[in-house]
Amino acid sequence: MVAIVLGSNLTPDLRADPKLSRLVTDGRGSLAFIIGNSACRQRLLGSSIHWDRVLLAFEDGQPVGYAAFKHHLRGPFALRSLPFIREFGWLNGRLRFAAFCLSEWREWRYPFLLYGLRVSKSARNHGIATALLQACSERATAHNFKCVYLEVPLGNDRARHLYLQNGFSLLRRRWVPWPPVRSMRRCVESAS
Ligand SMILES: CC(C)(COP(=O)(O)OP(=O)(O)OC[C@H]1O[C@@H](n2cnc3c(N)ncnc32)[C@H](O)[C@@H]1OP(=O)(O)O)[C@@H](O)C(=O)NCCC(=O)NCCS
Repeated sequence: MVAIVLGSNLTPDLRADPKLSRLVTDGRGSLAFIIGNSACRQRLLGSSIHWDRVLLAFEDGQPVGYAAFKHHLRGPFALRSLPFIREFGWLNGRLRFAAFCLSEWREWRYPFLLYGLRVSKSARNHGIATALLQACSERATAHNFKCVYLEVPLGNDRARHLYLQNGFSLLRRRWVPWPPVRSMRRCVESAS
């Protein structure tokens, strides 16, 4: 049995479970050269999660996946330099924090962005990502957005296939080849 819940609707006790922050901060592996491995990402970002920008999937009561989204200049992570400085030192920490901010600001051009999507290996092929994508589209509709945008890494054929199956289409190739991603878009029903 799968349940999809908006993070901000969970009780503070449930949100404090480190399993949840580990799950949510495990994404963004492509930025490992800036924000480190998954343990490091949890230390940097785990206490800065905007839970109203995270949908969590629970299977039989266990957290097994998440979808994070960004709109109105607010994504799943608050930008706080202190954890970077603590982790990497004053100079290296500031440089990495600035690089992370740049990668975040690059995405502000999307009105409603699917920022991240991940399902634990043991729970894949149960339809959980499909349910998270549906719930994410419902959030966009509820906030009167017309489209959900996302970026899929060039080599991630499984994710691209999933998105195509779920009504996303590929947008035009960009002139700038970095980062190596393709943008996709799905139009959603408007609430009004
Ligand atoms: C990509 C990813 C999110 C897919 O998650 P998932 O939960 O396995 O995806 P789904 O189960 O919804 O869909 C995958 C397949 O299961 C099938 N499926 C859907 N509902 C199902 C159900 N109830 N029972 C069994 N299979 C089902 C889908 O049809 C799909 O099959 P297909 O490959 O023939 O199209 C997951 O592999 C992942 O976390 N990968 C690593 C992170 C990542 O790449 N994220 C995307 C970044 S852009």
